[in-house]
Amino acid sequence: MRRHTTFRQLEIFEAIARLGSFTRASEELFLTQPTVSMQIKKLTEMVGVPLIEQVGKKIQLTPDGQQLAQATREIFDILDHFTMSVAERQGLKQGKLSLMAITTASYFAPRLLGEFVKLYPGIDVSLRVTNKEQVLASIAANLDDLYFLGQPPEDIDVVATPIMDNPIIVLAAPDHPLAGKKRISLERIAQEPWLMRETGSGTRNAIERLFTGHDLNIHPRLELGSNEAIKQAILAGLGISALSRHALTLNQPDQFAELDVEGFPILRHWYAVHPAGRQLSVVARAFLDYLLGRGEGAPVATGRKI
Ligand code: PGA
Repeated sequence: MRRHTTFRQLEIFEAIARLGSFTRASEELFLTQPTVSMQIKKLTEMVGVPLIEQVGKKIQLTPDGQQLAQATREIFDILDHFTMSVAERQGLKQGKLSLMAITTASYFAPRLLGEFVKLYPGIDVSLRVTNKEQVLASIAANLDDLYFLGQPPEDIDVVATPIMDNPIIVLAAPDHPLAGKKRISLERIAQEPWLMRETGSGTRNAIERLFTGHDLNIHPRLELGSNEAIKQAILAGLGISALSRHALTLNQPDQFAELDVEGFPILRHWYAVHPAGRQLSVVARAFLDYLLGRGEGAPVATGRKI
């Protein structure tokens, strides 16, 4: 049978088996009815047993016909799968990936993207790093493939995948009197002059939640709009602060002292977010799988000097 049966005949047979009608199969395949009948006749001759029988006005498959229908479905499934995997490989060779990250995520997002692009050099990538308001507006407008955030938006329907730990740690200048002290209480640390990020910052919200949860208030001495400015102010002896450990990625290990304060590190996560209604592209899916496959988490805070 194999040598003489054509793909077209199997396609016609599969359509008849599925639709239960020669007429509907010929319509679906844009063939005339005599062509359909002729091809089925040839197929039946080649197989050597009846495949379809007429029962009154209806047609039905014989037991052999049912087995052949099952086999053709499996063949078509395998071929569909093959076609899809070719399309995916093509997509990964030359697709586009558009990402947006909240400012603090800029400490790790470019590195991850760089590693991914090495694996798939043909992909055209764009990464925009901006503030929370603009990230939320872009999610709502469904403009990019994936967004990196420290806190998934609550009022937009999104799929949020945690991809990495994001511990918030308390930092001081290395010569700060509290450096090296054990188990500093929240009450004590609240009395220090704090350097705070701007209102709306995810880091700031997490710190404020911790203190207000213990009926404490901290009094910002300075409000600074970036992690880098905060780090400079700490080193200038202007106060202490708490930042994502990722904000120290490029700093020397002993440049700051990490203070041992109860309630810290605040354990947060970085999320890759996309609007719930958006079907991820092949490239975006591959990037997300890549992020999840890395199993990376920031190390849990242990030492005091970092
Ligand atoms: P941010 O960081 O403090 O720069 O807003 C994002 C977050 O941690 O939620």
